Amino acid sequence: MAQFQTKKTILDIAPYVPGESKSGSSERLIKISSNEGPFGPSPLAVKAMQEAASDAHRYPDGDATALRQKLAEKNNIDFKNIICGAGSDNIIELLCQAYAGEGDEVLYSQHGFLMYPISAMAFGATPVSAQEKDLTADPQALLDKVNDKTKIVFLANPNNPTGTYWTRDQVTAFHAQLPENVILVLDSAYAEFVDDPNYTAGHDLVEQHDNIVVTRTFSKLYGLGGLRLGWGHACDEIIDILNRIRSPFNVNAIAQAAGVASLEDDAFVEKSISHNKEMRHLMTKELSDLGLSVVPSQGNFIIADFGDEARAEGCRQFLKERNIFVRQIGGYGLPTYLRISMGLKDEMELALEAISAYLKT
Ligand SMILES: Cc1ncc(COP(=O)(O)O)c(C=O)c1O
Repeated sequence: MAQFQTKKTILDIAPYVPGESKSGSSERLIKISSNEGPFGPSPLAVKAMQEAASDAHRYPDGDATALRQKLAEKNNIDFKNIICGAGSDNIIELLCQAYAGEGDEVLYSQHGFLMYPISAMAFGATPVSAQEKDLTADPQALLDKVNDKTKIVFLANPNNPTGTYWTRDQVTAFHAQLPENVILVLDSAYAEFVDDPNYTAGHDLVEQHDNIVVTRTFSKLYGLGGLRLGWGHACDEIIDILNRIRSPFNVNAIAQAAGVASLEDDAFVEKSISHNKEMRHLMTKELSDLGLSVVPSQGNFIIADFGDEARAEGCRQFLKERNIFVRQIGGYGLPTYLRISMGLKDEMELALEAISAYLKT
């Protein structure tokens, strides 16, 4: 019997379950379970990775200087207010590590991204969730849960897995009622896919308010999930604090090179966004026509309600047997739904065909 003891809050963590796939198979797999880009990385990024590979014996630039410069230029923000991470998960963890510990609370919405409670608990804090309304974060319910112990509020905007979002006005109205000592983290992992002009990824708000942080990722639009590359935008003080605690080489050199090249590939970005919009529209319509209730999404995925858990799970299994992998989201409190990421057009057609066949069984 081991004599060492794991911290109680860590023992209570339910491990994150990634989207399912199958490796080592020569058959075609349709993996639409993890909101990954359907086109793979940009060809410019692949070339940059190949070039960077031969320098892999060198430590990376610990400050990710070229990448931060490119991000600053593309987003019209200050270079010094950017921090890069091994995925935006890394920034989420650093924020919890720096600002939430034992006795503190980290607030998020009912169906919010699971890394918020996991990261909060990893650093000893208590995750608190607030009820949603119509599968959308409810500002009043969140505000009702704010108390002296609240240190961070995480809002995925749009949220994964629901795909719902707040407009800029909703964010600013919520922030105006939040105490100034509470940090509002706008997790804008899916910002590029939003087509509502009243939406903001939040960089303009970071410039106005020291207690707003924005996190972004290269895992979705840029198709670089396998490299682990994300970043955060915050005021001088928060960036300084996060830089003190991050590991000095938290972003590897190949990821940095791929990130810079991806940001230069406007054609790839445009193609990915317009393809996503088309697929999201197609899937929403076709699944609705099959009689499923589909939540309008602003992400690169949609969720469809099968009415009961057994029917949803039956469909997931039916698809899996046909090498189509979608996401079960019971862990998000949505066991009657399946989440489907937007893939290539023929992947969507094959998924629709299989779902339609399942619904007839
Ligand atoms: C809302 C949200 N935030 C953050 C992440 C993490 O992304 P990354 O791959 O950059 O760690 C995800 C990934 O699924 C997500 O859905």
